[in-house]
Amino acid sequence: MCPERTIPPAPADLFPALPADAAAHLDRYGLLVRDALRLKPKHARLLPIEIRDLSATLTDERDDFAPDYMTRPGPLAAYVHYFHPWNLYRLTRLLAALPLDLPDDALIADLGAGPLTVLTALWLARPDLRRRPLRFLCLDRAGKTLKLGLDIFRRLAPDCPWNIRIEAEHLFRLPHFLGREQARLITAANVLNELFGGPTGKRDAELDSLAGRLAAHLDPDGQMLVIEPGTRLAARRLIELRETLIENGMGVTAPCPHQDECPMPGSGNKAWCHFAFDVRGAPPWLLQLAEAARLPKERLSLSFLLARHGSLEALDNAARVVSESFALPGNLRGQYACTPRGLALLTFDAWPTPPGSLLRLSWPEQDQRDPKSGALMVQRPGERPLPPARTPAPRPPAPRPAQERNADRPVADGRPAPRRAPRTERAPATSGKPAGDSTSAPRARHGKPGTPDAPGKPSGRGKHGKPAPRRAGKKTGKKD
Ligand SMILES: C[S@@+](CC[C@H](N)C(=O)[O-])C[C@H]1O[C@@H](n2cnc3c(N)ncnc32)[C@H](O)[C@@H]1O
Repeated sequence: MCPERTIPPAPADLFPALPADAAAHLDRYGLLVRDALRLKPKHARLLPIEIRDLSATLTDERDDFAPDYMTRPGPLAAYVHYFHPWNLYRLTRLLAALPLDLPDDALIADLGAGPLTVLTALWLARPDLRRRPLRFLCLDRAGKTLKLGLDIFRRLAPDCPWNIRIEAEHLFRLPHFLGREQARLITAANVLNELFGGPTGKRDAELDSLAGRLAAHLDPDGQMLVIEPGTRLAARRLIELRETLIENGMGVTAPCPHQDECPMPGSGNKAWCHFAFDVRGAPPWLLQLAEAARLPKERLSLSFLLARHGSLEALDNAARVVSESFALPGNLRGQYACTPRGLALLTFDAWPTPPGSLLRLSWPEQDQRDPKSGALMVQRPGERPLPPARTPAPRPPAPRPAQERNADRPVADGRPAPRRAPRTERAPATSGKPAGDSTSAPRARHGKPGTPDAPGKPSGRGKHGKPAPRRAGKKTGKKD
């Protein structure tokens, strides 16, 4: 860790309401897209079918996934009219919350930029950056999509002083374009899940190499933001990337309130970390297009991680709310939260907390575990105390002492070297929803945080369910 560096505070609310100004711009965005693409009437009529087809192609069966879909006119029109604006909506809500520090002349590299979704969402989310001289390097193997995105952006923001360079290249060519420079922000949205060609791709080695490359090209004060759809498959890859980033000497500043093993990794039948939110403020034309394509939307979801160089200390009382609310016995309600002690079940009797919120907890003196999920139970701040447990709650198997668990790891400075969590098995090829199309994030049920699956019991927990300390790895400085 670099003690002299000021780490921006983790955002308290990850998905603030869409700012009115951004909503107004998105309202007219449909016209800008139509003007830029100028579909023939016959193709305009077919658009809802193209959208539906692309949704089906990108959903579920990834074995027949054709990575060049952005280069074909029908899918490109479907993406730019529909998936791109939905991504703008969800990214704008997230980017409005994240503490992205971009000084004058900062270089932002966007990988798999498509129709410049990240760049446009940043413009929508951050009016304070609109007049700032920023430089963007946008890479995508589909050059036509980049050009189209640039055309639409110029229509949206004709006077924007941003210097935008687009390059039709594989994203691994990033170093070639950066030269000796390092980026202040590296982003990749909705790319990771298709980067290695579906679940059969050799992603472990590739993810290790990707994490190393990204870390090597990030400015010492830079940030890396990777956003994925809120599906199990996408979130699992992101969680694997998180692990490799931490091993490459990086710290994850959001959404995780700690650097330890993810308690919602999506492996086996465990829940996966993602956030769902409503579509309030979405433009009516986009909602109508969703209806026309028979993909009506009530909720959106995404998973993401924001990282920077240096390891970070966990705040023991921080908790990120990761599910919607559900009923508990005794007229209580509950919500799951990710904490440095593992998965927690927050109890309360009034309004739920929006998923993505960061809370400060007061842990009880005595651990009490939810029998259904194994999560540590804790009152949400300001709530009435938990009723005493009627029957002793079942506890997870006693963890082995930290020394024993880490005995196989090399030791440096008297402390165990970072421990790699066991790799999760491959995701089933049935969960990949397309970006912009994750409508059906299931409501949370007790024992099933935000997903149809029960979370596993927290593993390897020490006293009070607190994980054995884990140290971030040394920076590898891997280069291409
Ligand atoms: C789902 S789109 C996401 C586009 C944009 N980031 C967004 O969020 O709307 C994925 C993009 O990644 C691009 N892509 C996939 N693999 C790539 C690679 N290896 N190198 C460069 N671009 C890639 C595709 O061409 C496509 O434009």
